[in-house]
Amino acid sequence: MAILDIRLLGDEVLRVPAAPVEAFDEELQGFVEHMFETMYHAEGIGLAAPQVGVSKRITVLDIRASDENGPQPVALINPSVTFPDDETERATEGCLSIPGFDEVVERAWRVRVDAVDPTGTPLQLEAEGLFARALQHEIDHLDGILFIDRISPLKRRMLLKKWRKAQEEG
Ligand code: NI
Repeated sequence: MAILDIRLLGDEVLRVPAAPVEAFDEELQGFVEHMFETMYHAEGIGLAAPQVGVSKRITVLDIRASDENGPQPVALINPSVTFPDDETERATEGCLSIPGFDEVVERAWRVRVDAVDPTGTPLQLEAEGLFARALQHEIDHLDGILFIDRISPLKRRMLLKKWRKAQEEG
């Protein structure tokens, strides 16, 4: 088992657009395993590589803790997302890098994702609802975007104020 350190809001690595993966080797596959272990240990449903300090386009997801009918765990390398229609949904969302804080975020209800798996094999996903939301959240991480960027400026200011206070109080 290798539990990686999860970087928190304020860490610069969370804000840097991540680089594409070019080598589909054992090192990548081992890292993906460590990401899954870290995500399960933290009781999250998704984790992106920048959250463990690695600025690469890698994310793992397993939403079954929140949706028992959810799909099997998946590791996505170099994913890109497209939106088949305009339907959106507002729902509460959190992030392992901003523990203790969640907010309602509007997201596309349905997405299509193109990626490759850790062996370099292309894969395509279509998702709705929570899985679509989690995919959008994780792929945002790969572009240096956090869910707090998708809430109103007023709510963001309030959240950041509370976050700083909580950090100061340790
Ligand atoms: Ni997150």
